[in-house]
Amino acid sequence: MGLFDRKPIAVLDDGEHGMRRTLGAGDLIMLAIGAVIGAGIFSSLGTAAAGEVLADGTVVRYGAGPALVLSFILLGAVCALAAMCYAELASMIPQAGSAYAYSYATLGEIVAWVVGWALILEYAVGNVAVAIGWAGYFTSLLSGFGIDLPGWMTHGYWNVKASGDPAIRALLDSAPRLAGVPILVNLPAFGVVAAITMLLMQGAKESTRVNNIMVILKRVVLALFVIVGAMHIDPANYKPFAPNGFRGIHQGAAIVFFAYIGFDAISTAAEETRNPQRNLPIGILGGLAVCTLIYVIVGLVATGLVPYDQLRSADPLAKALSLAGLDTASWIVAAGAVVSMSAVLLVFQYGQPRIFYAMARDGLLPKFAAKLDPKTRTPRVTTLLTGVLVALGSLVADDAATYDLTNIGTLAAFAVVCLGVLVLRIREPDRPRPFKVPFVWAVTLIGAGACVFVMQGLPASAWMAFGAWMVIGLALYFAYGYRNSVLRRPGSTPSR
Ligand code: ALA
Repeated sequence: MGLFDRKPIAVLDDGEHGMRRTLGAGDLIMLAIGAVIGAGIFSSLGTAAAGEVLADGTVVRYGAGPALVLSFILLGAVCALAAMCYAELASMIPQAGSAYAYSYATLGEIVAWVVGWALILEYAVGNVAVAIGWAGYFTSLLSGFGIDLPGWMTHGYWNVKASGDPAIRALLDSAPRLAGVPILVNLPAFGVVAAITMLLMQGAKESTRVNNIMVILKRVVLALFVIVGAMHIDPANYKPFAPNGFRGIHQGAAIVFFAYIGFDAISTAAEETRNPQRNLPIGILGGLAVCTLIYVIVGLVATGLVPYDQLRSADPLAKALSLAGLDTASWIVAAGAVVSMSAVLLVFQYGQPRIFYAMARDGLLPKFAAKLDPKTRTPRVTTLLTGVLVALGSLVADDAATYDLTNIGTLAAFAVVCLGVLVLRIREPDRPRPFKVPFVWAVTLIGAGACVFVMQGLPASAWMAFGAWMVIGLALYFAYGYRNSVLRRPGSTPSR
């Protein structure tokens, strides 16, 4: 048995037949908006527009400036290709584990492990970024009420170290110390992750009704931002339109890609979709088009409201409004952002334990992670584990670095999924495919290439961190998964 053994799809498939096909294209669009709109647009937009410069003047990345709208359009196209590929695999291999499961069936065990390991970046590290974005808005909400938390309680150590803002860097000297080490923690970010973990431990789950309320709320808040902001646009702010040329648009796209993450989640509804061959592409491409349009408009207003370099902040939309003197609107947008991001936190904090669970069930992670709580039938152990890891990360991490790491891991997984579709078409051309990617060679190869191209816009630090993450992952695989894989064990039948 080799490293590239594939988990048979027939085995992956069992028992899941007969889910009720109730979702139409419109439902999929709502699902997409629910999973996708969050910290990316509310928070990472700031760094994408303004770029990032260290205290010593080193440029970590160039900002797109007002040309951020072009970054959004570029990303919409890249995600459309990847999302179609997800849809084909999701319609053939409908089970928990997302890209991890698809890779196991198409490209083999070691690729599946690498993808599962990369998905930890998408879900767990991604949630660290969302929690920090949440905390940025929460803190500005509190100060609207006259409650100002001290800086050392709202900025994690690495965030302060990476900041180019002298006021934030001053915290290194002014923070209280423990055994000589400055105490710099993001308590609100830690707190929200702890609270969401407790909710999930009680058996909370994603629900369509809550999702629909969230979608309405997000649209109302962003519409408010756009309407109020548009009345105060100063056209002078659009000049220069692309201050750093294509380099800025590319590097801006690489960080604001975070705003698009979550599309893969809707493809998992493939089996519950009516007439998937028609509704999946409409749902996916429609959802992407709606989100891209919303992002382009929000980006246009944000960069028109204030000079783009003033958007460098964890709460750029609220900051832009308050810099323009629109304090009430700023407050409402901040409140809406806090609620929207809580929903994203819940979805991802729900997803990660299930990926751990799927990997442990296949024997690639220790058995304790494959335990279900006998009463709630939910993976409580991995839910708690995810909560602890994400909460600790949120306490000290830097938001830009976590966006980068999330994006690079997710883009790598997207690229593998695109290639997986092509490989499976060649290996098993006759297998039934409820949804088929059109122009498969072009879509899969351009899709994978486009993901790698966006990855190239990320700074060197992200590539190094990603490389280190993958080395650790492979070491773990050979030390544990390779020996304990259920697929590899003689005579055993892999579970679903
Ligand atoms: N796309 C999600 C967000 O922006 C992850 O929060």
